[in-house]
Order: sequence, then C-alpha cells, then structure tokens
Amino acid sequence: SAAEKGGWSSFMRKEVAEQPDAVANTIRGRIVDGEVHIPELESFGDDELRGVRRITVVACGTASYAGQVAKYAIEQWARVPVEVELSHEFRYREPVIDDGTLVLSISQSGETMDTLMAVKYAREQGARTISICNTQGATIPRESDAVVYTHAGPEVAVASTKAFVAQITALYLFGLHLARVRGTLAPEALADALAELQAIPAKIETVLGQSERVAELAHWMADTRSVLFLGRHVGFPIAMEGALKLKELAYIHAEGFAAGELKHGPIALIEPGQPVFVVVPSPRGSANLHPKVVSNIQEIRARGARVIAIAEEGDAAVLPYADEVIRIPLAAPLFEPLLAVVPLQVFAMELSQAKGLDVDQPRNLAKSVTVE
Ligand code: G6P
Repeated sequence: SAAEKGGWSSFMRKEVAEQPDAVANTIRGRIVDGEVHIPELESFGDDELRGVRRITVVACGTASYAGQVAKYAIEQWARVPVEVELSHEFRYREPVIDDGTLVLSISQSGETMDTLMAVKYAREQGARTISICNTQGATIPRESDAVVYTHAGPEVAVASTKAFVAQITALYLFGLHLARVRGTLAPEALADALAELQAIPAKIETVLGQSERVAELAHWMADTRSVLFLGRHVGFPIAMEGALKLKELAYIHAEGFAAGELKHGPIALIEPGQPVFVVVPSPRGSANLHPKVVSNIQEIRARGARVIAIAEEGDAAVLPYADEVIRIPLAAPLFEPLLAVVPLQVFAMELSQAKGLDVDQPRNLAKSVTVE
C-alpha cells in the first residue's frame, strides 16, 4: 500500500534510499570502544576461529555477489582462503569439507531452498556453519550454528538493494572479528578499517545525491538493448551485480566482466555506441590497478564504446576518455563497493521506470525462491 511505501512511489525507491540506515543499523552495537564486537559468534570460541583453515561461502543471486566482495576483504584481513560458491552448485558436487571448513551462508530471506539445502548438507558433512541473514527466525539461521543478522529492515522489492550493502557490512565485521582473533591485522589497521566502515553511511548519502543525473542518463538510454559492466578486484562483483540489477529490473541484456578479461573475449562485443559502465578502482590503491583500468577504458573507447565511468572524486585520469563520470567519495579500496553499487542500482531502477515496468515486481521473478 501507499502507506507502507512511506510516501515513496515504489518499495525499490524507498529501499535504495534506506541504504545509509541499512549499513548504520548493521554496524550499530557491533563496534565498542573501537573494537569489533559480535556476541552472536560466542558459540564459536576464539580457538575454533583460529583453527578455521578454509571458508566456503554459499549463496544465490545478489547475496552471492556480496560474498564475492567479502572474499577479497576476508582473505586480505584474516589470511584465510575463501571460496564463494552458488548454493545449487555446491550442494551437488561432492565438495571437500573437513573440520577446518567453515561454511558461511548469505541470504536476505533466510528461506532460499538451495542455500538451505547447502547449509544442511555442509552440517551433515561435519562443517560448522554461520549464516548472514536479514530475517529474524528464518529457516537458514535456525539450521546454522550461529547467525549474524543484517539489520536492513524488511526488503519488499523483489530485486535486492539495501540487503546487499548490509550483507557486505556484516561480512566485513565478521572478517575484522576473525582478523582480530587470528592476530593477522595490526591494531591500527583494524581501527582504520572500522572507521572506514563507520564513515560509509554518510558517503552513500553523498552518492545518492547524484541520483538525478543517473536518472537522466537512464532516461536517455531507455531504448538500449545491451549494456556491459567492467570492474576488477572488488569492482568485479560490483560489475556483475550492476548487470544483474539491469536484467532483473529493466529486462535488458547485460553482462559484468572482470576488466582483465577484456582481451580474452568481451572486447569483441564492442561496437560503436555500445554502453559500458566501468567501475574504476581508486588511484590510491596499493595494487596499482587504476592505470590498467584506465587503459581498458581507452581500448574500448577507441572502438566506439560509450563509457560511463564510476570513479572516485578527484580522479582526473578518466575524464578524457569517459562520456560520463559518476563520482563516489574517497574510501579505502575495499570499501568502494558499498559506494559504487549505488549508482548502478539507481540506473537500473530508473531505466525500469523509463520503460514503464513494475520495478518492485519484475516479471518471472520471486522475492525468495523456496523451491529447487
Ligand atoms: C531471488 C531474489 C534476489 C535475491 C536471491 C537470493 O532471486 O529475487 O534478489 O538476491 O533470490 O535471495 P536470498 O533471500 O537468499 O538473499
């Protein structure tokens, strides 16, 4: 009803706008005196967490992209190998699970059948399980050894938005907890990471402030038949999530690629006028990925691509080659996904609207897939 939407024209619009709160509420109470504090994990003793040799993340859809983002952070901080697998693939391939394996499930609803089956299977094989979930008392958390809830609030629109940023937030808190217990991150680095996380809600608000420009872009592009998304490092799963949002909401063919793969195939798709969103890594990143992505932009531009760059404030290197630049505030590289995803969500939502589609209930999709 209109009242439930709180004055917004759609749940999607409301939920996109609620993202600063989704992150802030997921952090609330979990950083105490500059230290990460997750009482929900008490059933896992520190010794047990030190003994984890491998983390397998299981999830479907947008939740799996949250897992892919978190893989970069958890491996960097806690020095534990992390693999991310779609629940339905994991369950049916005789995965190697031993007592050093921690299975981390991610599900907004906590009811996705494939993810539930993956968790049950993992437990039967002797794995310990933690669930990241947005719905109190749902089935997946009940079937898990521990649950870290995201506090995004109820998500009604079928395509996930605010739950995604809340999932990354919860996974980052978990990764920092693990890093502290395992002693893999210096106290200053840990404090810096927590401060970065606490600064995210206000920065998302800043990104949302540009939504009108993104909306204009979407309205110009309402007839577009295909859109490509490029990213690398944590920008790679964001590229895939941007593509997924566009498929789900606007029924447009879209693919996300790792920018480093460009020469191995995707560049053959570039023809004059092809729109390409590029998630540009920070020029301040230690791995020096920025010039590599700028050179990818030059390569596709030379072949006529229409480049929409998502780049941090002050990054002037992209200006000569991009048709449009959407700015995100400065953040440490691992935290950029929480900002870069926002204009991609807004773009898909606005394009759906420009095409006169039902943004809250796209055709053929369900909010929670409770059958196999
Ligand atoms: C459906 C929804 C997606 C969601 C996925 C996983 O496909 O349309 O938005 O990402 O299920 O749902 P879950 O509740 O497990 O996060």
